[in-house]
Amino acid sequence: MRRQLRATFARLPAVRLTGFTRWFIGKREKVWWVAGGGAALTLILLSCSSFDSSRALLAPPAIPGAEFVGTEECATCHEALVKGFVSATHSRLKAQGDNAKSMGCEGCHGPGSLHVQSGGDRSKIVNPRKSPDACFACHTEVRAAFNLPHHHPVLEGKVSCSDCHNPHKGDAVKGGGTSLPQRVKGGGIAMLSANGTCLQCHTAQRGPFVFEHEAVREGCITCHSPHGSVNQKMLTQRNSNLCLKCHFQQQTADGKIFIGDGDHTTRLQQGTCWSAGCHEAVHGSQTNTHFRY
Ligand code: HEC
Ligand code: HEC
Ligand code: HEC
Ligand code: HEC
Ligand code: HEC
Ligand code: HEC
Ligand code: HEC
Repeated sequence: MRRQLRATFARLPAVRLTGFTRWFIGKREKVWWVAGGGAALTLILLSCSSFDSSRALLAPPAIPGAEFVGTEECATCHEALVKGFVSATHSRLKAQGDNAKSMGCEGCHGPGSLHVQSGGDRSKIVNPRKSPDACFACHTEVRAAFNLPHHHPVLEGKVSCSDCHNPHKGDAVKGGGTSLPQRVKGGGIAMLSANGTCLQCHTAQRGPFVFEHEAVREGCITCHSPHGSVNQKMLTQRNSNLCLKCHFQQQTADGKIFIGDGDHTTRLQQGTCWSAGCHEAVHGSQTNTHFRY
């Protein structure tokens, strides 16, 4: 059976360049996204054509009267954070000239001059934990996901981007994500710790289970869209196709559908694989090898 399992990891591009380039509204400099680990440099050339009308929405966090001072300045008081930042995904974001200043800490926290002058007044700096708008400035398409019918309550203030993402250190996706560069870097171990992020809050899915479902090892996000989805329980697919992407079997008998070598022809008409009392314990079971309950 193992041979017939097909894992498909169709992934959306991490961030559309347009979302990123739009951020540099009115700035026609060259911006580099420097790939880590000695990998190739990608040169993003901005041109007028990449600016569109949704400007106001996409401005960096604003702090009335404040100017950008640059990451070095933050190090005076937040030394450890600035030191750790060299390993952060977002530290690889570079811009030229004056815009370089706005790329480091202040890309998310807004211009810091007043915060610095006041010796650290919290009301003079943006903290994205309080509002994800700072992130949406660049990650526009992510905002849309949190507006889908089934989503993590981030806009509602119950979950924050930083519950699952590291802004200051290491991979932005905690535990490493499944995007290709991260998989190469992190492999299976990274995937397991990525599940760990989810399990902090969702303890019921933690196990250990007597009968484990190997799919969970592939990662929670094989079946769930982490931000939001049109489907119930934020599933990546709404029906049996969710399971069939792995449990696909070459059919031999005419008109019959076999899954796991069992005849499922009539069963599949009764609902999804996990409803209708079939495989309710889809994350793993203590009692049943077929994950019935
Ligand atoms: C002169 C020292 C100093 C400098 C320079 C400084 N900060 Fe701070 N910052 C502080 C202090 C002190 C606090 C803690 C305030 C508190 O706990 O009330 C703070 C808190 C913060 C917070 C948390 C705010 C919150 O809502 O809890 C952020 C974010 C922050 N700083 C970002 C920055 C950034 C970005 C820079 C560089 C532009 C910077 N700081 C430069 C002293 C400084
Ligand atoms: C990718 C966006 C992003 C960048 C870049 C960023 N931060 Fe933050 N920062 C955040 C988020 C999100 C939080 C809230 C963290 C949380 O919820 O625990 C935060 C919180 C903070 C705090 C409050 C204390 C804390 O640790 O929670 C300070 C101080 C701070 N940042 C300073 C900095 C400094 C200095 C830099 C540059 C070296 C920086 N940040 C770069 C997103 C960012
Ligand atoms: C100044 C623009 C900017 C801001 C602000 C920003 N990001 Fe990013 N972020 C980027 C860019 C550019 C990338 C790299 C995209 C890529 O790898 O294609 C990135 C990468 C990421 C990734 C990793 C994607 C991957 O597949 O590795 C995550 C997660 C992420 N950002 C989350 C956040 C969060 C959370 C915030 C707010 C706290 C935030 N970003 C703020 C520009 C930004
Ligand atoms: C419940 C956990 C969780 C929360 C909350 C969350 N993310 Fe994510 N996010 C993930 C995971 C897991 C991935 C990796 C998906 C993958 O590898 O396919 C991801 C991927 C991303 C990416 C890169 C891929 C993409 O979809 O563009 C960005 C950018 C991102 N998140 C930004 C954010 C921002 C901004 C917020 C807050 C508004 C946020 N995330 C909140 C779990 C979360
Ligand atoms: C910081 C805590 C936290 C983290 C981390 C977290 N979640 Fe959630 N999750 C929640 C909350 C809160 C809800 C909303 C629950 C509700 O509305 O009843 C939720 C809802 C869900 C739901 C939908 C449940 C339902 O009944 O519709 C799924 C599925 C889910 N999360 C999966 C994940 C996955 C996968 C990850 C890791 C990528 C993750 N969660 C990380 C807190 C978290
Ligand atoms: C093989 C696909 C698959 C994987 C992998 C998977 N889930 Fe699920 N998950 C489902 C299905 C299907 C449901 C809906 C079950 C239902 O409605 O009875 C679900 C429901 C949930 C719910 C809602 C629980 C409830 O009682 O309504 C949460 C929370 C959840 N999953 C979290 C996780 C976490 C955390 C992981 C990773 C450790 C994970 N899932 C991995 C398929 C999966
Ligand atoms: C990422 C791939 C993947 C996905 C998606 C997936 N599975 Fe699985 N599943 C596996 C693997 C691998 C095994 C172990 C294979 C074996 O038993 O040889 C397994 C085993 C099972 C078993 C136990 C087989 C037995 O011995 O009876 C059941 C039942 C099952 N899966 C149901 C489901 C259901 C229901 C879904 C959809 C909610 C699903 N699976 C989605 C990979 C997957």
